[in-house]
Amino acid sequence: MIERQTIDEILARTDMVSLVSSYVSLKRAGSNMSGLCPFHSERSPSFTVFPADNSFYCFGCGVGGNAITFVRRIENLDFSDAVTFLANRAGITVREEKGAEEPRVDRNRFLQMNKIAARFFHSALYAEHPDAKAALAYFTEERKMSSATIKHFGLGYAPNDFSFVNYMKKAGYTDDELVSGYLCHKSDKGVLYPAFRNRVMFPIIDVQENVIAFGGRVMDDSKPKYKNSSDTPVFKKSRNLFALNFSRKNAAERLILCEGYMDVIALHAAGFPYAVATLGTAITSEQARLMARYTKRVIISYDSDEAGQKAADKALRLLEAVGLTATVLKIPDAKDPDEYIRKYGVERFRGVLDQSKTKFDFYYDKITAKYELSISQQKIEALHELCAYIATVPSAVEREIYMKETAKRLDVAYGGVEGEVRQRLARLRAEAKQKNRTEAHQALSGVLDRVNPDYSKAPRAAKAEEAVLGLLQLYPAYRTKLLGDEPLLTEEDFFTDLGKRVFLFILQREKEGGFSADMLDEAFTEDEVGRITKMRVARMQLSLNDEGVFLECVDSLKAAVAEERRKKDDGGGSVGDFLSFLEKRREEQ
Ligand code: GTP
Ligand code: MN
Repeated sequence: MIERQTIDEILARTDMVSLVSSYVSLKRAGSNMSGLCPFHSERSPSFTVFPADNSFYCFGCGVGGNAITFVRRIENLDFSDAVTFLANRAGITVREEKGAEEPRVDRNRFLQMNKIAARFFHSALYAEHPDAKAALAYFTEERKMSSATIKHFGLGYAPNDFSFVNYMKKAGYTDDELVSGYLCHKSDKGVLYPAFRNRVMFPIIDVQENVIAFGGRVMDDSKPKYKNSSDTPVFKKSRNLFALNFSRKNAAERLILCEGYMDVIALHAAGFPYAVATLGTAITSEQARLMARYTKRVIISYDSDEAGQKAADKALRLLEAVGLTATVLKIPDAKDPDEYIRKYGVERFRGVLDQSKTKFDFYYDKITAKYELSISQQKIEALHELCAYIATVPSAVEREIYMKETAKRLDVAYGGVEGEVRQRLARLRAEAKQKNRTEAHQALSGVLDRVNPDYSKAPRAAKAEEAVLGLLQLYPAYRTKLLGDEPLLTEEDFFTDLGKRVFLFILQREKEGGFSADMLDEAFTEDEVGRITKMRVARMQLSLNDEGVFLECVDSLKAAVAEERRKKDDGGGSVGDFLSFLEKRREEQ
């Protein structure tokens, strides 16, 4: 928990316009600023910054909030990290509240605990025990690793007994610490047992050389093959990469992105000390940005199966979105890089690496592989499909290069390719426009409302609710009417679940000393903050919001909700109600 006072200070020192300007180019629009929304693609600006109350809202996609919401979204951070991000930017040190509830995790103590665990696992690999010998043999014989490689990566073994638990407790760590660090679990009966048993161990080390987590693999075909640490209070798997601690020093030219720890280890051992892997999940944009800090180019080297290629497709997009040049490696006749190197040797792998494909090559080969190009009908099909792909490329320059390549490789006239791409582009644009229109329409009528699913059940009541909640956010005078012995509104006056929650939040904060829209991020998701901001922005844009208007809105909300209640009582009774009604009638007869 970060103190409210600190958050307010950070927000006061953050100028929305200058913050947003480092991501979006803004132009003046009346008393506000507007630009192209960074959260959805659009061609005319509907993203608006309101300097008056330091907030933003996109009229196109409905995201909105304050500086914290903006940073949560654009940097993909959770609430407290977004606050820290803004604090750093404003030159403020964040003091954390020593909350009574959650025991504060001491990051250094946690890291020390992991280091001790890593040493335990590593030395367990060399123990005089048949299980340990089998684990070591798994690495050296089955996976053909040298002892230098095992040492370099600090690989280990988690024994199939309780020695780890006893060791860690003797080292001074409590049950809670071991559980929250994902080193141990607790059974229903309260017995502490090791999270990793009879697995070979891969320590995950961050760029500051801290052991932050572990992966453990079985040595046979049992399931699950790998077990990875879950996120812990001081570790997020979406923000780290395996072996980046080594790779970053050799990354100037490129990084190789793999799926598995074993691939990374095999590549480093084979003389490619710039391979990294995600920690058992698909790549995130945070990881893409992390790579972009160290390199300009990433070679995606995923498994050659369909799942791997699909994942490569996703990785390609994410990496390009952060400005990296990405290419995809297709490994022939092997499942993954590790297997390829073991089967065909380092030199042949180097050859494959040199031929890693550019984005266009990747799609070109994927599409043409499906057709027999010597048959003209099939060549035409392939051409159509290629043009369809090229039409989806956002950059005009890139499109031109790809059209030229296509014409050349398939030996057809450039004009034909260009004509078809142009036609498809026009169609795509028309479709996008139509889709925007339908979505805007649906959003207005409340259909497809994920953020407030109750909206469509009673649009009139929900609309009235939004008006009231918008006004309550804007005017402290109206909020005082919620307090006292005879409050103007209660939870019961609201219809949707979201509306009730927003009302209760405003009420609670008002009682505690004053609500401010800047508090919304503490209790609501980014999407919800967007919606709640919309309620406020919608009212801000109206010229008349005086008390008469407010009371009218309150009345129509009460009327609409009463109307809904009545409808429900008339028709929507439960089966149980109906049965007891029949029962009663029978008695009367
Ligand atoms: P080997 O079979 O040892 O060569 O594994 P690999 O390194 O080739 O990994 P694979 O391609 O099978 O999986 C890639 C990554 O996904 C692994 O490094 C793990 O992080 C993760 N993974 C694989 N299997 C599982 C599983 O059963 N559970 C979880 N949680 N993660 C897994
Ligand atoms: Mn493998």
